[in-house]
Amino acid sequence: MVSQPFNVLLLGAGAVNFGTPEGPWCHTTRLERKLGARLNVVGLVDPVTSKAEARLAEKRGVVGYEHTEVFGSIAAAGEALTGTRAPALVVAGVQPEIRGSHAPGRDVELQVQRAFPSTPLFVEKPLSSSPVAEVVAVAAALGGTRTSVGYMFRYLEGLCGGWAGLTPAVQTIRRLIAEHGLQVTATVAQYYMAYEHAGTPERHAGYFDLGVEVGPIVSQATHIVDLCVYLAGPADLASVHTHTLEVDEGPGVLSKLGWSSDIPTARHIPRVTTAVWKYATGAVATLVHGVSLHDGDYETELVVLADGWKFKLVDPYGVPRLHVRRPGQPEEAVTVYKDDDPFFTEMATFIDVIEGVVDESAVLSTYNEAIRTYELTWAIRNDGDKNRDERRARAAQANGKSASNGAA
Ligand SMILES: NC(=O)c1ccc[n+]([C@@H]2O[C@H](COP(=O)([O-])OP(=O)(O)OC[C@H]3O[C@@H](n4cnc5c(N)ncnc54)[C@H](O)[C@@H]3O)[C@@H](O)[C@H]2O)c1
Repeated sequence: MVSQPFNVLLLGAGAVNFGTPEGPWCHTTRLERKLGARLNVVGLVDPVTSKAEARLAEKRGVVGYEHTEVFGSIAAAGEALTGTRAPALVVAGVQPEIRGSHAPGRDVELQVQRAFPSTPLFVEKPLSSSPVAEVVAVAAALGGTRTSVGYMFRYLEGLCGGWAGLTPAVQTIRRLIAEHGLQVTATVAQYYMAYEHAGTPERHAGYFDLGVEVGPIVSQATHIVDLCVYLAGPADLASVHTHTLEVDEGPGVLSKLGWSSDIPTARHIPRVTTAVWKYATGAVATLVHGVSLHDGDYETELVVLADGWKFKLVDPYGVPRLHVRRPGQPEEAVTVYKDDDPFFTEMATFIDVIEGVVDESAVLSTYNEAIRTYELTWAIRNDGDKNRDERRARAAQANGKSASNGAA
């Protein structure tokens, strides 16, 4: 039964909830489109309340924000938003460092649960920056709470066949795999970031600093790794092998960084990461992530192989294209999805699940499901870090030897 109005509590007055010029994300515009006059944003929580007020001021005149109250904490929102003001949905668009843990201040999900028990929770990727075990403990604490995690690419029409199965039959990777009883044999994923405009010391430089953020695999390539897991199943974590190109190695210099970095060498993100692993099925995977393009858009691409078949998803962030080569048809068929907005489908689907319009299974990434991706991205990063440290130790030892040889 669809209720009126639909109360939403937003956590975070930042980019993912309110948008930025450099990306398509912006949860508020998708909520506005989905709910129209029914949208009632009851609260916006951000410890930087001045930022929250500024974002709300930009929404003046937009339907849905007439009664929005700004709160400095989730607890304060919990005290105020009761009865008819209680949220039907909480959208956690906050940084991973304050999520996915029981540690005070890093426990946003649990704060939400205390303030609004059982209220459905949309939470952004990556699940956290904490160790996997802590995230697993949070999942257990969330229990039966409905969750949806921001892996929006799962909702691309070319991948899942459309929102809740309501769109016309689209030739998609998931559907073709199911229809033809295919077994994925390999995935080849590429994620090339355009870094030239990605950071200034004041803004987003944390991306380049492992002391501030979790690094490009856990925070960024996570999207394409998630698709690998979605299409080929769970990975054998013990099989992961990773190599990285680092800032202190010859080709690791970035000529267009645009700001002078004082990040210590040990804390610089890798410039390029390559990883291979096996899936539980026996299939194999390759990932290449590069902080490597200058201006313009990111480039992402995923190839999925099965006996006789090749699927290639190109540019999921932009205008997604799906290339399919199949038995008996060596020419690739290309489908272009011009108006596919996975951010919208992701949010609209969760609202429909909450309102009982569609079945729970329409949520394509729950908190529990997202843990698989989280642990795989950490396995990739950890193996890369280990190999980097061993390489540096070998180099230091060799330098020591040659210095002492020189002295002798
Ligand atoms: N799915 C996507 O494509 C996509 C795109 C962008 C960002 N994200 C993810 O969204 C998350 C947020 O990223 P962002 O770029 O919006 O970050 P941001 O820094 O722009 O915004 C986060 C906001 O949360 C606020 N905040 C801090 N503690 C809080 C608390 N306890 N309660 C409420 N608000 C609090 C901060 O003050 C800040 O305003 C990250 O996990 C990021 O990876 C996902």
